[in-house]
Amino acid sequence: MKNMFLILCSLFLLVGKLSSQLVSIPIVTQNHAIVLQTDQKKRLNMVYFGKSLSNAKEYANVTNEFKFNDDNAGFYPNTYTPSGTWNLYEPAIQLTHADGNKSLELLYSDHSVTMIDANIELTKVVLKDPLYPIKVTLCYKVWKKENLFEQWSEIEHQEKGNIVLQKYASANLYFTNKDFYLTTFQGEYSKEMQPAETLLQQGIRSIDTKLGTRAMLTQTPNFIVSFGKPASENEGTVMIGQLAWSGNFKLDFEVDSYKNLRLIAGINPYASEYSLAPNQIFKTPSLIYSLSNQGTGEASRNLHNWARKYRILDGEGERLTLLNNWEATYFDFNEPKLTALFKDAKNLGVDMFLLDDGWFGNKYPRNGDNAGLGDWQENVKKLPNGLGYLIKEAKKEGIKFGIWIEPEMVNPKSELYEKHLDWVIRQPQRPEVYFRNQLVLDLSNPEVQNFVFGIVDDLFTKNPELAFIKWDCNAVIYNAYSAYLQKKGLPQSHLYVEYIKGLYKVLERIRAKYPKVPMMLCSGGGGRGDYELLKYFTEFWPSDDTEPIERIYMQWDYSYFFPSIATDNHVTDWGRQPLKFRVDVASMGKLGFDIVASRLSPSDKTFAQQAVANYHSFKDIVWHGNQYRLVNPHENNIAALMYVNNEKTKAIVFHYLVNNRQRITATERPIQLNGLDPNKKYSVKETNLYPYTKSTIDSTKIYSGDFLMNVGINPNITLQRTSVILEINEMK
Ligand code: DGJ
Repeated sequence: MKNMFLILCSLFLLVGKLSSQLVSIPIVTQNHAIVLQTDQKKRLNMVYFGKSLSNAKEYANVTNEFKFNDDNAGFYPNTYTPSGTWNLYEPAIQLTHADGNKSLELLYSDHSVTMIDANIELTKVVLKDPLYPIKVTLCYKVWKKENLFEQWSEIEHQEKGNIVLQKYASANLYFTNKDFYLTTFQGEYSKEMQPAETLLQQGIRSIDTKLGTRAMLTQTPNFIVSFGKPASENEGTVMIGQLAWSGNFKLDFEVDSYKNLRLIAGINPYASEYSLAPNQIFKTPSLIYSLSNQGTGEASRNLHNWARKYRILDGEGERLTLLNNWEATYFDFNEPKLTALFKDAKNLGVDMFLLDDGWFGNKYPRNGDNAGLGDWQENVKKLPNGLGYLIKEAKKEGIKFGIWIEPEMVNPKSELYEKHLDWVIRQPQRPEVYFRNQLVLDLSNPEVQNFVFGIVDDLFTKNPELAFIKWDCNAVIYNAYSAYLQKKGLPQSHLYVEYIKGLYKVLERIRAKYPKVPMMLCSGGGGRGDYELLKYFTEFWPSDDTEPIERIYMQWDYSYFFPSIATDNHVTDWGRQPLKFRVDVASMGKLGFDIVASRLSPSDKTFAQQAVANYHSFKDIVWHGNQYRLVNPHENNIAALMYVNNEKTKAIVFHYLVNNRQRITATERPIQLNGLDPNKKYSVKETNLYPYTKSTIDSTKIYSGDFLMNVGINPNITLQRTSVILEINEMK
């Protein structure tokens, strides 16, 4: 009996000692927390993701309340699930050691927390294999005020030779809430970013791309997870995230046998085994995410605020409104045609003219998309006086000049292809496969990196007043094979990763020399647009589809992830909506035109000029204010969206009819605004009125913010009034 007592006591002490050794690591923003905690075996688990607790000591008690009791209970929540040992589920990391062994265990070693400034904190947690000298550092950077998490991993080793990484995720998260609704965003050319929400069931739902470049053409690395119920705008717990990687990605959402959710996100392991030398660090891309307990609206505003302040190049700065000639001329232009368009740009009142595709190539002139790509010299027939002349002529009209390039690509009908076949990604023994008649240059090759940097550098050196670049990327990678990697004795399976790293290196160099010049990221429409590339770009082109009704949906769906200042919207001739409708829609972002403005009717011309002037008066709110999505076009006959300045003294509200069925006679109910100050008094005035029309909105009435947000205001949308913009101004 005494012995039994002693055994029990020592067991108790042992457990106590072990549990007192458990390490709990809270990673906390203003409102939310992730908590990592070791178990008895020193494996690190993610035990909490939710509202931050007021008493940080209580995080250590979280696990006591969960009773997932069977052999798997300790396996699923791992923070960086290894493979080849105890784990039989989707791993975050999978590798082959230098000696050919494939087993990996990762145990907690140590961690550090660094305050970068009052708002930014970096937590690094080191995991090590007890048997092999492998180290994985999990990095969590948080922006407290913006409730924003950025997470990546760093893998290194000191084995006797190279190890081979088969899988190397950025993040491995675990959520113990119940019922997960996942919204993903996918599509194809000109139908980008279409949302689909599903209730996740036990098993894995993967979102991935293998396209190499133009990676987001059919799937995007953007997602929303809603906890407990479908996502809604102003309430409920949601996580909004993106893998910030411009190449092949894979996001696995796995509901386990307890109905908990594992999320493993990173570079797509497809054809991408990576051979890592001793002491070399493999840094994964970042998973970026924000959590909100007040729905997708707040989560998006978190992301927008963070992106503008910390991520997008010049995110809090200004943008250039423009006239683009792509749809006005396509490849068919010359100097007189272009200089006439400069006059249009000036008459419209925009800041800049953007010369699109078709200005280059001499042996193989770029008069269509089948020739000339890669030969970046002005075509002497079209532009006998060169770009310098055009820039001067634009300046005479008082506008700036920008230019289109597609520097990562080549047409087989080009001098570049003839001279540098070894720079082209292609299988030397197989027939070439083209996407838009072109191939991709091998950016894993430093010579190609120099070439691409040189295109931009040359343009700016020869034309220091060049004000803008549109960087396009129209092809995917077929026949993935690099002559350069072959020559260097490096594995071909490095190509997808080294391509994207090569691209980032080029952009680093461009930004070191030209830190501020605005650049638009374009990819045959919206095939690119991620928070890694947006470190170097001021904005992106969401889609070639500019039909304004479609565009309302698209801009709405992009707005979950990107602030309007980064989204370029052009007025074109797509669709059958009147000019006012098209301009209003394009004004919910960075406004541009891609039309022959001189062909507009006199009243359309007058309208366009006034609308551009109006845009200049309210663009500050659209670019720098807070966005509130009011009425979802996916669920209603109308769409409404508003922006409010930080002081809550000015707002701008956009409304559209998105369904033209005759049954619709008028908006029956008021639309409740958001983000205003309930105690302030406001006037409501319609703007962007078409010439000779009268507004049905009484601009002399004064409303309280309280009224506008709880009762709302009726914009009087009818089949005849399909687009209404209201300006809200504080009245003192
Ligand atoms: C695709 C882009 O999305 C268009 O805006 C235009 O720049 C063309 N490429 C030019 O080839």
